[in-house]
Amino acid sequence: MIKLPGLIDPHVHVREPGQTHKEDWDSVTQAALAGGVTMILAMPNTKPPIFDEATLDLALDAAKQKARCDYAQFLGAGPDNADIVSSLAPKAAGLKMYLDSTFGELRLDDMTLWIPHFQTYPKEYPIVLHSESRTMAAGILFAAIYDRPIHIAHVSLKEEILLIKAAKEKGIKVTCEVCPHHLFMVSQVSDNERGKKKEGQMEVRPRLAKQEDVDALWANLNVIDCFATDHAPHTLAEKDSDNPPPGFPGLETLLPLLLTAVDLGRLTLDDLIQKSVVNPRNIFHLPEQSETWIEVDENATYEIRAAEQFSKCGWTPFEGWQVKGRVKRVVLRGKTAFEDGKILVEQGYGRNVRALEME
Ligand code: NCD
Ligand code: ZN
Repeated sequence: MIKLPGLIDPHVHVREPGQTHKEDWDSVTQAALAGGVTMILAMPNTKPPIFDEATLDLALDAAKQKARCDYAQFLGAGPDNADIVSSLAPKAAGLKMYLDSTFGELRLDDMTLWIPHFQTYPKEYPIVLHSESRTMAAGILFAAIYDRPIHIAHVSLKEEILLIKAAKEKGIKVTCEVCPHHLFMVSQVSDNERGKKKEGQMEVRPRLAKQEDVDALWANLNVIDCFATDHAPHTLAEKDSDNPPPGFPGLETLLPLLLTAVDLGRLTLDDLIQKSVVNPRNIFHLPEQSETWIEVDENATYEIRAAEQFSKCGWTPFEGWQVKGRVKRVVLRGKTAFEDGKILVEQGYGRNVRALEME
């Protein structure tokens, strides 16, 4: 049995308010605890999106009643809310900017709309960018011009990780995260087949990339600051529909997949702790969770099964994958929150880490 600190997942789509048939603050925090994650940062592309005080309260009220692990909520950058979100910054995980089209309504197509956010959002909190390929390069240029920290979400391409590496070497304040599905899965669809074949369940943004890209992520592990799930649950019926929404669940598969990589010598346990606890805490200025740890049976070998998961979405892209390493027990702020497959803390036990100092 090994003991690790509780993991922090800086990229989770909770789906509440608005789409609680996919997930809600109760189910998502159960999934987190079962996965060894004791703190989640929630994305703002809900319905409605979280972009002002009233919508922030909507999310935080639901979280306060239902969350079983600790959390903070991101604000979304819209076309005309720069002053509003910057005044709310101390209550939020950070600011999320969607610079490429994806699932949800928060869009900033025109670069003039980026400027007020880069100028105004307090520099002690990072701006998180959903920005792929050349858009990411534009985001890094903005970080340099406005001399402020940015955090690149879900890096998936060789060209992206190489540019981030070069930007870091120049002293630009950029950090980044990578998702397990981009580390462990390769696209089965070639560029000229795209759009012809129905990808359905495999739809995700950023898309699964080529072997060359996956190899580049592994070759540049030292450039990757955080592991993040981008837990983005949609139901199987939605994924199998004619217009499948992009997104994979990930909270319950994160640690088993990473521990399997540790077992195979692809990653060290220290890398895992740095990228899943220490770095996210430092980048987002999150408090330490006292008396919080997870106990893992590092020798337990088993197959991933969606049927055993707490997420409401009912499926996983890793169904049937053989992994080594099982979360046995999670202790959160002195209380056993999960043990032997059972959630043991009530709804409302989770705390907003931006609302109070942790003791
Ligand atoms: C996310 C979702 O479903 O909210 N989907 C995804 O494929 N990652 C949106 C996002 O993070 O871009
Ligand atoms: Zn996301």
